[in-house]
Amino acid sequence: MHDDMEKVLITEEEIQEKVDELGKQLSEEYKENFPLVVGVLKGSLPFMADLIKRLDIHIEYDLMDVSSYGEQMVSSGEVKIVKDLNTSVKDRDVVIVEDIIDSGLTLSYLVKLFHHRQAKSVKIVTLLDKPEGRNVDLSPDVAGFTVPDEFVVGYGLDYIERYRNLPYIGVLKPEIYEG
Ligand code: XMP
Ligand code: MG
Repeated sequence: MHDDMEKVLITEEEIQEKVDELGKQLSEEYKENFPLVVGVLKGSLPFMADLIKRLDIHIEYDLMDVSSYGEQMVSSGEVKIVKDLNTSVKDRDVVIVEDIIDSGLTLSYLVKLFHHRQAKSVKIVTLLDKPEGRNVDLSPDVAGFTVPDEFVVGYGLDYIERYRNLPYIGVLKPEIYEG
């Protein structure tokens, strides 16, 4: 475990097992649809990379970067597109892949946007769900793990851009935020 970490919440093995399971579920569900899998940067990158390798069906994938947090730990309530898709979602079955749903603002914005762009269907797959953080009425179609209302890092999730590369998910020691 990294020195800055207070505890590991979800181990690498638990994550990989879950990703296997979700891969099977999505492969079954989307085998006829040629879905467009949309990864939300930067946090979803490790999950997205692992998940798409478990899909044994035809898919297309693309990436989008939106920001609602900036460098803050609490949501500003504002979502902006930093990098848009290169692919049209019109008439496509879209699967949005996220690292975590907290307030729900980012995802509710994206779901509305893709419906507005006339996607055939839009589903949300998130590795982590933090239901206690919710500000808007939104629930994921598929969630890997439910986490408590604590700030978590690792496997794509950062604190001021650090820790995204860790293969597990954990909580930092309080002095890391203070220092
Ligand atoms: P909302 O509030 O829009 O947030 O559902 C989604 C985005 O917020 C970030 N987020 C976190 N990042 N640890 C992080 O490193 C957390 O505990 C956390 N909670 C929310 C994340 O970027 C996510 O995509
Ligand atoms: Mg972040």
